[in-house]
Amino acid sequence: MTRLGHCCDTAVQTLGVCVACWVRDCSLPPMFVLGCGLARGRAARCPHLASSANGIAGALLPHGPTQKEGSLLGEKRSAMASAELGLSLQGTRESGADVRSANVTAVMALANILKSSLGPQGLDKMLVDDIGDVTITNDGATILKQLEVEHPAAKVLVELANLQDTEVGDGTTSVVIIAAELLKKANELVKNNIHPTTVIAGYRLAMRESIKYIQANMSVQVDKLEQDVLLSIAKTTLSSKFIGGDSELFSKIIVDAVKSVRVPGPNGKAKYPVSQINVLKSHGQSSSESVLVPGGYAIQISRGSQEMPTQVKPAKIALLDFDLKKHRMGMGVNIVIDDPEELERVRQKEMDLTKDKIKKIVDAGTTVVFTTKGIDDFAMKYLVEAGILAARRVDKKDIKRIAKCTGGTLLLTMADMDGEEKFDPQCLGSADEVVEQRVGDNDFLFIKGCSATKAATILLRGANEYMLEEAERSVHDALCAVSRTLESNSVVPGGGAVETALSLHLEDYATTFDSYEQWAIAEYAEALQVVPKVLAINGACDAIDLLADLRNCHTAAKKDPTKADQKWYGLDLMKGVVRNSVTAGVLEPMVSKLKSLKFATEAAITILRIDDLIKIAPDPEQQ
Ligand SMILES: Nc1ncnc2c1ncn2[C@@H]1O[C@H](COP(=O)(O)OP(=O)(O)OP(=O)(O)O)[C@@H](O)[C@H]1O
Ligand SMILES: [Mg+2]
Repeated sequence: MTRLGHCCDTAVQTLGVCVACWVRDCSLPPMFVLGCGLARGRAARCPHLASSANGIAGALLPHGPTQKEGSLLGEKRSAMASAELGLSLQGTRESGADVRSANVTAVMALANILKSSLGPQGLDKMLVDDIGDVTITNDGATILKQLEVEHPAAKVLVELANLQDTEVGDGTTSVVIIAAELLKKANELVKNNIHPTTVIAGYRLAMRESIKYIQANMSVQVDKLEQDVLLSIAKTTLSSKFIGGDSELFSKIIVDAVKSVRVPGPNGKAKYPVSQINVLKSHGQSSSESVLVPGGYAIQISRGSQEMPTQVKPAKIALLDFDLKKHRMGMGVNIVIDDPEELERVRQKEMDLTKDKIKKIVDAGTTVVFTTKGIDDFAMKYLVEAGILAARRVDKKDIKRIAKCTGGTLLLTMADMDGEEKFDPQCLGSADEVVEQRVGDNDFLFIKGCSATKAATILLRGANEYMLEEAERSVHDALCAVSRTLESNSVVPGGGAVETALSLHLEDYATTFDSYEQWAIAEYAEALQVVPKVLAINGACDAIDLLADLRNCHTAAKKDPTKADQKWYGLDLMKGVVRNSVTAGVLEPMVSKLKSLKFATEAAITILRIDDLIKIAPDPEQQ
C-alpha cells in the first residue's frame, strides 16, 4: 500500500474526527493508509474501532473511489456497521478481491487437472476412491465426479461438467477449461480496477456475439457435406478415448444404433432418444468383438429357472413391479389358531392366493414375465408348469424401457378399484421373440422385434472392468453427439477452428465499443484460445507456432475471398500442422459448441458475481 495521507492522530487533530467516525461518514476525504502503525495504536484506544471485527485494517482505505474500491469501501463499511450493531458472525468471512482470487485459484486447480486429458492426444486419469475402487477415464465429467471437491467455487465447475454431460453428453472437458480461463481473465480485469459488473456485461455481450457468429459463419448443414457426417462426428468424439483405436467399428455401431431408434416427434421433427439404446458390458474377448443387437433390447439377466424355455416366440410380456411369493399377512396382523387343521387351511389359502394371481396372469395369454421384485420357488413351479419364461430382479430402469418399447404397462398391483384381483391383457407388451443367449461369461435375455417404439442394444466386449466402463462412457458420448447432429442437422469444424475464428472475430467486435466492456470482450476472445493451445500442448506440438499459423489462416480467410475456405482450418495434431477440419472429417455437433459456450460463460459469471464468502462455523454443541 502506498502512503497517501495523514495518520489517524493527525486526522483527529486536523479533521476533528476519529477514524471510526470517518468510516461511518464517508463524505470526509479518504486519505488514510492501511497498516499505519500510529493509526493502529490510536484504534486500540478508539471505542468505535476497538469493537470492530475488522479492526483498523477494515476501517482505513488507501485512496479515492475507483470502480473497484468503491465496492470495497461498501463492503468494509457494512462489515463495520454489523459489528457495531452487535451482530457477530460465528464463522469466517472473506470479501472482495480475496474471495475472488481464492475462487479463481480453486477453479484453475481443477481445470489444470483436466487440461492434459483434452483432445485426441489427451491422456487418461486413474482415480482411486476411499474404498479402493479404481476408475480409469478421459471423460471430464467423470473425473470431476470422482474428485472430492470441497471448495464451493470449484463445486460450481463440477456442476457445470455434469450439466454439459446431461444436456449434451460430450464436451465436458472443454467446457470446464473455458470457464476456468474466462474466470482467470476476469480476475485480472478486476485487479486492474474494472468493476465485476462491467466484466459480466462484457462477457454476456461476447457470448451472444459468439453464438450469432457460429450460427451464421461457422456451421455447415449436414446435407451439404458429401462425406458421411455422422460417422465423422462419432469418430471425432471417440478420437480422444481409448476405444478410438477401433473407431471405424464403433462409429458404425453407434450410427446404426442411433438411426434405429428414430421416432417421429410431435412437430414433424424426428427424435433420436439415446435412452432407448442399452449399452451392455460383457467380460472377455477384445473390444473389437463388440456388436450391435439391432431392433431389440437386452438385459443382463438369466431366466428364473433352468426348466423354463430358453426361447419364446412370439412373446407376450407381463411387466410387474410386485413379488410373486407366497402371500403373507401384513405387518402387525396377529392370528391366533389353536386347531392344527385350521392352521393348515390358512397355509393352503396363502398358497392359493398366489396361485390364483399367477393363473390370472397366465390366462391373459402371457408367455414371458419380468418382475422388479422376487419370485419364490413355489411361484416358480407354477410358472414352469405354464411354460412361461420368467426373470426376477430386473432393474427398474430396464423394465421401464422394455415397457416403452414393447408397448406394455408396468403394473404396481393387480387389484382393481373394487379390491378384486384382475389382470388386463391390454397391459401385456409384445415382441417377436424373447430368447436367452450366452455372451462371454454372462447370460443375456434378448427381446427382439419390439412392437411399439424401437430399441437397440450395444454389447461391449473388453478385457477388464475398467476398460469396459470407460468404453461405455465413450460410447455414450458418441451416441449423444450423433443424436444431437441428427436432431439439429448442423455441424462445426473441430480441432480449435471455431475457437480461433471466434477469437479473431471478437477482437474486432471489441473495438466497436468505446466503454469498459471492450476490455472484457477482448479478454473473452483471448480466453477462447485456450482450447487450441491445450490441444497443441497435449499433442506435443509447438503451441505458439501452431496457434500463430492457425490465426494466420483465419485472418486470411476473413480478408481474402479466395482463401475463404481457410475458415474451416483447425489443428492436425498427428502431423503438427493446420488443415481443413471439414474435409478431414473432424466435426462436432453445433449444439454442443453453442451449449458449452453458454454454460461456460454462465458458470464463470456465477463465480465472478461472488464478492463475499461467509462460512458459518459448526455449532459447538452439535460438535
Ligand atoms: N482428430 C482431431 N484432430 C484435432 N482435434 C480434434 C480431433 N478430434 C477431436 N479434436 C478436438 O478435441 C476436443 C475434444 O476433446 P475431448 O473429447 O478430449 O474433450 P471434450 O469432448 O471436451 O470432453 P469429454 O469428451 O471428456 O466429455 C475438441 O475441441 C475437438 O475439436
Ligand atoms: Mg469428447
